[in-house]
Amino acid sequence: SASLKEALEGKFYIGTALNQFQISGRDTASLAVVKKHFNAIVAENCMKSRIIQPREGEFNFLPADRFVAWGEEHGMFINGHTLIWHSQAPNWFFTDRSGNPVSAEVLIRRMKNHIFSVVGRYKGRVHSWDVVNEAILDDGSYRKNKFYEIIGEEYIALAFEFARQADPEAELYYNDYSMANPAKRAAVAALVTKLQRRGIKIDGIGMQGHVGLKYPSLDEFEKSIIAFAELGVKVMITELDITVLPQPRGTGGADISSNFKYRQELDPYAAGLPDSIARASTERYLSFFNLFLKHQDKISRVTLWGVNDGYSWRNNWPVRGRTDYPLLFDRNNRPKAAVDSLIA
Ligand code: XIL
Repeated sequence: SASLKEALEGKFYIGTALNQFQISGRDTASLAVVKKHFNAIVAENCMKSRIIQPREGEFNFLPADRFVAWGEEHGMFINGHTLIWHSQAPNWFFTDRSGNPVSAEVLIRRMKNHIFSVVGRYKGRVHSWDVVNEAILDDGSYRKNKFYEIIGEEYIALAFEFARQADPEAELYYNDYSMANPAKRAAVAALVTKLQRRGIKIDGIGMQGHVGLKYPSLDEFEKSIIAFAELGVKVMITELDITVLPQPRGTGGADISSNFKYRQELDPYAAGLPDSIARASTERYLSFFNLFLKHQDKISRVTLWGVNDGYSWRNNWPVRGRTDYPLLFDRNNRPKAAVDSLIA
């Protein structure tokens, strides 16, 4: 076979996230890669609440419309990302006109309107939704986000109920990061079990997969794939990328561009990637894909968080302005060695 999607045919969908440039149709070079190698897409940003409903009742559907139309035109499995998430959510969602927090009743009504409007618009066209994103912290407790503070943990069940009502046919997922972490694994499994016991539709668990060259361990990652599959839901790797950069603690969002020395430490491959690191990345990709293939009966989709290194969010997270090499295609959209090996 000549492409990733042909090589993985009958195993799992292989997907990628599309950014604004790609959705606009202007980035023809990377869209050619998407058409050739991928059979599933997700929007990197344009379906997030702050972008799709910037003001109450005012929707910005154009990019999402284009994204869905492009996916249909090219026979893609289309995942919607994401309905209820604390990040990239507009302030109006949680506050009244004087800026005070709204009541649970009002927030629930806003959640319902948002989910009905967005899911309803793409009913029968978007195949699945990341209904709730990142509701559990690494220690296994609930994230104390505004939904939680105002409504309590019930916001999660409500979100799934609203999504099911808005499109009974769409698959509904819970999505989160650090899913190899044992405490988080247990908490997510407990959350899903709770929803299932109440008869609430949940079809899958998305493991984001923003990983590094060393962490997390494949063993822990595998335990989570198994534990989630045992719940009887689909397991997906939804946002795979492998950073090659040091992941400093406590520097989230720091801007290093003004401090040259600091920059060299934290941005070691600005001038190019050493062969040894490129090989380590290839090896890491192949170990992960071997794990996914071992569990292909449990895994329905593996999605990369972007097409090529140049536009990856990892260049800017957790530190802005670095040069990362986290994806399967380089800055010129050329397939990396991992792609050739996977195809072979
Ligand atoms: C990221 C995007 O890639 C960035 O462009 C944006 O600035 C911030 O969000 N977990 C998620 C994704 O679920 O939505 C995030 O995407 C990455 C972390």
